[in-house]
Amino acid sequence: MHEIHPEKLPRHLAVIMDGNGRWAQERMLKRIVGHRRGVETVRIVVEECSRLGIGYLTLFALSSENLLRPKGEVRSLMALLKRYLEKEASRLMKNNIRFNVIGDRSKLPDDINLAIDSTVSKTKDNSGMVLTLALSYGARQEIAYAAAGLAHDVAAGTICPGDVDEGLFARYLYTTGLPDPDLLIRTSGEMRISNFLLWQIAYAELYFTEVNWPDFNKEELHRALENYQSRERRYGLIGDQVRNRRQP
Ligand code: IPE
Ligand code: IPE
Ligand code: MG
Repeated sequence: MHEIHPEKLPRHLAVIMDGNGRWAQERMLKRIVGHRRGVETVRIVVEECSRLGIGYLTLFALSSENLLRPKGEVRSLMALLKRYLEKEASRLMKNNIRFNVIGDRSKLPDDINLAIDSTVSKTKDNSGMVLTLALSYGARQEIAYAAAGLAHDVAAGTICPGDVDEGLFARYLYTTGLPDPDLLIRTSGEMRISNFLLWQIAYAELYFTEVNWPDFNKEELHRALENYQSRERRYGLIGDQVRNRRQP
């Protein structure tokens, strides 16, 4: 068993859920079967993170680039997403989870946007974990969107260019109000970021596993968390400084 120390859990865990298609193809199944199994993993991971007391869980479910996949796959992903949103609200309520979405929602179909609005509004007063799905999300697009928002406010005269610093800039990102991720997990053996949360992961710990997302489970989650807890986060300082800070 993996030993998890509740006081050393990441406050914000972000996950690039990758490998659904390969999981299916390795079994001579259609890619959509892998996506369906992937939704099962989402349920398991969401409930376990909430049970453990993780404050924020952000899942990369659909990138802006994924929308350029073959039409049939995009259509199936949308159908799966709609079903997830409709079915999940009651489980989210039961677990006191607040639901949130980041991404360019103008690229999503109307029925998906309605389902998102409904789940966000149903769960808005929940005080437990914040679950964020990144949908039609791209980090460069997000940074450009933030720059446009800032430029707008400077032009309107509500902000002076000299006031712009990291904190102010971050308020214009989709993730405003969320702390930066402490741990980023990517499944399926790929060691890349694929345009996810580029600004926010500046000091996140990265964890890569060969396991495909449909096979990721509680045990794999615990393994990742245990590994995270063994790391020393130095933020550019030397080891003595961060250790002394912990025990003044
Ligand atoms: C991740 O699995 C889910 C989405 C990107 C929607 P993939 O569909 O990328 O699976 P692989 O990487 O092709 O195996
Ligand atoms: C990243 O996975 C996006 C999601 C998991 C939603 P991809 O499968 O799209 O990434 P690449 O294409 O391998 O970089
Ligand atoms: Mg992939």
